[in-house]
Amino acid sequence: MAFPFRICAAPMAGISNRAFREIVREFGADLAYGEMISARALGYGNRRTWELMDIEGEQSPRLVQISGSEAHFVAAAAEAAAMLGAQYIDLNMGCPAPKVARNNEGCMLMRQPELAAKLVSAARSAGLPVSCKFRAGWDDTSRNAVDFARRMAAAGASFLAVHGRTRQQFYSGKADWSVIRAVKQAVDIPVVGNGDIFSAADALSMLEETGCDGVMVGRGMLGNPWLFAEIRAVLRGEAAPARPTAAEIAAVALRHLRRHIARSVYWYQQREGESPATAAAGESLAIRSLRGHLGWYTKGLRNSAQLRQRINQAESLAEIEALFAVFASAGTASSAAARIEADN
Ligand SMILES: Cc1cc2nc3c(=O)[nH]c(=O)nc-3n(C[C@H](O)[C@H](O)[C@H](O)COP(=O)(O)O)c2cc1C
Repeated sequence: MAFPFRICAAPMAGISNRAFREIVREFGADLAYGEMISARALGYGNRRTWELMDIEGEQSPRLVQISGSEAHFVAAAAEAAAMLGAQYIDLNMGCPAPKVARNNEGCMLMRQPELAAKLVSAARSAGLPVSCKFRAGWDDTSRNAVDFARRMAAAGASFLAVHGRTRQQFYSGKADWSVIRAVKQAVDIPVVGNGDIFSAADALSMLEETGCDGVMVGRGMLGNPWLFAEIRAVLRGEAAPARPTAAEIAAVALRHLRRHIARSVYWYQQREGESPATAAAGESLAIRSLRGHLGWYTKGLRNSAQLRQRINQAESLAEIEALFAVFASAGTASSAAARIEADN
């Protein structure tokens, strides 16, 4: 069977929450990774971590990304995710954050391939397909992605996602797509390529240059779920749809916000009980956590700096709706290139 996840939305902590996953799926992402879930925090019963998973009742395909280094916690986290409805488990083997490395997790696992392989086996005990997401290597002196990929495949991983940077690079410099190509040639399981896809043309180039089975978009999707529709069209050999108008951007940003508020109120009320006060508190939390993303939607558009400043001060959905109403009627959308330029 052809690999079904040709266009993937990357896992991004603090970003790829339930509401965002729904939005990118609507625009054509075949698979939207959930944000990293700490197996240990889940194992210790951290409520916030359970809430972060947020997959019950979500549309298929549902993938939960787990970060961990202890097999028993990883196995338990995979079982919990399966119980809540996950269909795929991904293991985070690429996070560069010092806090994660200190716990022997994320990209630190690339330095311990035997432990990483054990974690694949542990996660597989939940009975779901297990994938791994990792980098080119730890640093320039240890670019071991190919050997690492072979070992993960041998341990039973069902597909791999490779980010063409080392841990030392974090997110700087240019992603090296030749690593993706080398991994693809080394293993028999599907390989998803990741790093620096900011346009449909980039996606096409990565597929052509590396032979990968799917592409994964990270920073390029921030405030820009339209990119998925553009990639989808171009892969079909069709012209990319026109860039969204300001009114379309405003409508999607508000849909994203309303859904995020709905999830936030739901979880807040699970904890604190249903009341107008808990509804307001849930709304306020959601607004604060989505301010950055709302700003990304407006980047590169006329008067956006001013709008972002006002969004950052807004406290309620009604205020943000009013701000976007003005933006929708006054602004015009610029090209994708101009938006990306504005981002950089
Ligand atoms: C803010 C932020 C959060 C991220 N969170 C995660 C995460 O939770 N799990 C993960 O595997 N990668 C995470 N990543 C890495 C991305 O999934 C992706 O590999 C990286 O951004 C490279 O792709 P890009 O060049 O398309 O952005 C994160 C990246 C950023 C910038």
